[in-house]
Amino acid sequence: REQPKQFTIGFSQCTGGDNWRKTMLENMHRELSFHPEIDFVMKDAAGQSLKQIDQIQQLMDQKVDLLIVSPNEAQRITPIVEKAYQIGIPVIIVDRRTMSDQYTAYVGAENIEVGRTAGIYANTVLKGKGNVVEISELPGSSADIDRHKGFVEAISRFPGIRLVAKLDGDWDKYSFENDLTALLKSDRLIDFIYCQNDRRAISAFEICKKLGLQKRIKIIGVDGLNGKNEGIDLVDRDILNATIIYPTGGEESIRTAINILGKQPFKRENRLQSTLIDSSNVRIMKLQNQKVMAQQEDIERRQRKIEEQRAISENQSIIIYAISIT
Ligand code: FRU
Repeated sequence: REQPKQFTIGFSQCTGGDNWRKTMLENMHRELSFHPEIDFVMKDAAGQSLKQIDQIQQLMDQKVDLLIVSPNEAQRITPIVEKAYQIGIPVIIVDRRTMSDQYTAYVGAENIEVGRTAGIYANTVLKGKGNVVEISELPGSSADIDRHKGFVEAISRFPGIRLVAKLDGDWDKYSFENDLTALLKSDRLIDFIYCQNDRRAISAFEICKKLGLQKRIKIIGVDGLNGKNEGIDLVDRDILNATIIYPTGGEESIRTAINILGKQPFKRENRLQSTLIDSSNVRIMKLQNQKVMAQQEDIERRQRKIEEQRAISENQSIIIYAISIT
């Protein structure tokens, strides 16, 4: 029997197509499965800020009880989020930020810190000397702005490390192929590529490989997802030198939402930890991930069993009732 819904959470996702966002949604659903009283409505803006503004307005018109927003571009999404907040809808910002402090809670890792970690790593593997190319996230997103800022801040302390260029990556995984190829063929010897996510990092690797440079040039990505051909696996297979785990915040944002709706205490700033993974810790990370996945499968198997038992006993009571009235 369906439990009546008490609250509706509206989720405005800036883009839904990549594996990191799919993982975020899976994590949200995992947490939501404990809360049958919650109705969950998601709108995917497919990477378009205008569409996201429109969809947030639709969720407001639908009178959702709480909004979760992962903003596409910081500046452009700010006014509509402020509007929702000002009319009294609790707003949780997840992962990327707006330019405003008008929100109820934030959940996500610190992107400036992600950039700093990448900068310090560049200096370590290059032993203090080398030329770096950076490949961005979506330009204008807070992830892009902050990951760049943190990186520049960190390498400014190392005079031998030079950021030669920042190339824009977009949804076409080869969008920066021509520019990167030109740079790699130029007189300036490129030693390190800092990619603001692992999707770009694998494309950068393929471009280096075409030029026979994959052994010499070091590459770091960000996201560190679990699974075949994802960040951790790419580091393990020596395709990337490192990745930085950038947690999705899926579970935490739903937990925060439940606390807000239930008028329970909650934290306004929920900073998640990002972690550098390279050859020194990738094996242990992989093993740990495998263990967590096995445990998760076990929990799901048990849940299915409980559900089956419940259905059987419900059927039996219907039969007993039917017999008793005939
Ligand atoms: C996914 C993604 C991730 C990245 C995050 C930043 O859409 O591009 O790769 O870490 O968004 O907001």
